[in-house]
Amino acid sequence: MLITGLVGYPLEKTLSIKMHRAAFNKLKINGVYLRLLVKEENLKEATLGLRSLGFKGVNVTIPYKNKIMKYLDDTIDESREIKAVNTILIENEKLIGYNTDIYGFKKSLTEYNINVTNKKVMLVGAGGVGHACAYVINPLKPKRFFVANRTYKNATDLYEKYNVDLVSIDKIDKIIPEIDIIINATSVDFQQMVLPYIKQGSIYYDMNYKFKLIKRKDVKMINGLLMLVHQGAKSFELWTNKNAPIEIMKKSVGLKND
Ligand code: ATR
Repeated sequence: MLITGLVGYPLEKTLSIKMHRAAFNKLKINGVYLRLLVKEENLKEATLGLRSLGFKGVNVTIPYKNKIMKYLDDTIDESREIKAVNTILIENEKLIGYNTDIYGFKKSLTEYNINVTNKKVMLVGAGGVGHACAYVINPLKPKRFFVANRTYKNATDLYEKYNVDLVSIDKIDKIIPEIDIIINATSVDFQQMVLPYIKQGSIYYDMNYKFKLIKRKDVKMINGLLMLVHQGAKSFELWTNKNAPIEIMKKSVGLKND
């Protein structure tokens, strides 16, 4: 049996369980994807225990994408660069950290036909997901790349790494009117704060999938569902060594196939 799961706390609402179970069923893999609600004081024991419990791997979510890294045997370069792991693969008794959010976000941009080059981009949020986003956006050469974060100092390494323009979060309304693509990588809903200022023809991309998107005819509104599917598919492929059944995974989270 292939044992996988999701480590996080409080794991309130997650579509990953449904999605991975659908993928196992489709490929007739005898696999399980378990909800692993782990309190912070137990994170070390729980992580190290994955090995003896026979896990093939897990996904990692809020609030442990960074905190779990110190318990791993190795991490791939991308995760080290953004200091966040969302997938662990257990191979030859070793816990290896990956970040498939990077792949998932990049793939979603392609699938949505979002061209970042020469566009003015604003990223709100500089946590693990924000860093994954910046890692993808920066090499695509946006015309300007603004980053705003509630805690200013948490975004300073993005300035050091990518030379982004740091903006105070309470002043973003001044800059939003000139932005082509706004990306929310915080865990809170920024629609009410952003949409009144956003210009016609721009894109609002919320990396979350839990917020109901406000309908706007003149703004392309996107949520994180497609990114969820693609990051999940990459994790699935790491654990199973098989191509992920993308269409089934999309269907399982309510994405239309057209
Ligand atoms: P994730 O892995 O999802 O990125 P994280 O690393 O904990 O999770 O980052 C959460 C992000 O949401 C951070 O940018 C955080 O801002 P701080 O750096 O100031 O903590 C942001 N965030 C969380 N709650 C917020 C709130 N109420 N208002 C604004 N930003 C918030």
